[in-house]
Amino acid sequence: MGFRFPAWTNHIRALLVLGVIGAGVYIFLIINFGFSPRATDVGYQPVQPVPFSHRIHSGELGMDCRYCHNTVEREPHSAVPPTETCMGCHNKIHTESEKLAPVRESWDTGQPIEWVRIHDLPDYSYFNHSAHVLKGVGCASCHGRVDLMEVVYQDQKLSMGWCLECHRNPEPNLRPLDKITEMDWEQESPEQGAQLRAQYNVNPNENCSTCHR
Ligand code: HEC
Ligand code: HEC
Ligand code: HEC
Ligand code: HEC
Ligand code: HEC
Repeated sequence: MGFRFPAWTNHIRALLVLGVIGAGVYIFLIINFGFSPRATDVGYQPVQPVPFSHRIHSGELGMDCRYCHNTVEREPHSAVPPTETCMGCHNKIHTESEKLAPVRESWDTGQPIEWVRIHDLPDYSYFNHSAHVLKGVGCASCHGRVDLMEVVYQDQKLSMGWCLECHRNPEPNLRPLDKITEMDWEQESPEQGAQLRAQYNVNPNENCSTCHR
């Protein structure tokens, strides 16, 4: 009888094969996505079909973000509002405005306005708005001072390193739940972050499957 590997080594061989496949996939992803400009598009600011201004609506008129982005506390995605939301006011305000012509056309035809997407993670990663917002991470931490933006742009890198930095140390970015959309809110002291962390039981994950599922 020759030498035989014990049965349990079968698992190791399976693992090795998986490891080799995994490394291949990893290299493929790095080459295809890691260096793509989309991955670090800070400042990306496409031209929109309507010159909608967050500075006017959120800043000057003081509208809460959730008036328009009303799924942000319930769902992974933060919906961009339908034409109906705009028409609630613009059937009375600026009814002749040239800038609002595409909004009226959308209302008449039933064709949604084709807003150009600004923030867009690669499909192989998973993000969830409600998971953040309900644990005290505010819009401003990830989107910057939207209330001052005439045209929205991408404020943060949205890279994996950026996500992990906060998952490792969320405290500086926590705020009371009733301040989630308050754009100029700041922590009173570093202790407040620790206190909120305990209060809301905040323990972000660093497992790959949290964001790659
Ligand atoms: C009156 C409605 C309205 C209000 C209020 C509003 N938004 Fe928006 N938001 C929009 C519309 C319409 C778009 C799509 C057009 C654009 O990008 O400007 C948008 C786009 C965005 C985007 C970019 C989405 C993408 O494509 O990646 C972000 C981020 C955003 N809003 C955040 C906020 C925040 C934060 C607030 C509160 C300070 C806010 N919004 C208040 C209507 C609104
Ligand atoms: C709660 C009411 C309200 C809602 C909802 C609202 N707006 Fe407005 N919007 C205003 C007011 C008020 C002004 C005028 C501000 C000013 O003149 O200073 C305005 C101004 C504008 C202007 C500039 C018009 C011009 O001729 O100068 C545009 C464009 C516009 N809004 C687009 C939109 C779009 C698109 C939506 C939906 C995503 C929307 N608004 C939702 C109240 C609203
Ligand atoms: C922890 C970071 C973070 C917070 C907090 C956050 N966002 Fe986002 N937001 C993102 C990322 C990342 C994307 C891109 C998501 C994707 O591509 O799947 C995004 C996308 C969006 C979009 C485009 C539609 C979508 O869901 O892809 C809107 C609108 C938006 N955010 C609004 C808001 C508003 C309003 C708040 C506060 C109530 C908020 N966000 C809080 C990170 C954040
Ligand atoms: C500013 C801080 C911050 C940033 C930036 C951030 N996160 Fe988070 N994330 C958190 C916190 C806090 C939680 C909630 C942890 C808890 O529930 O205890 C969370 C939770 C999550 C969850 C839910 C996990 C679950 O258990 O269901 C996902 C998914 C997630 N983050 C993905 C991302 C991705 C992807 C990015 C980058 C695009 C990102 N996060 C950026 C702070 C952040
Ligand atoms: C908190 C969320 C989060 C966690 C946890 C996470 N990733 Fe990612 N990962 C992302 C996001 C978001 C991207 C897309 C980044 C971009 O577009 O630049 C990404 C991109 C990647 C890429 C593409 C190349 C690159 O670096 O951009 C690989 C490979 C990857 N992740 C592997 C992993 C592995 C392996 C783990 C576990 C050790 C892991 N990720 C954990 C959010 C996460």
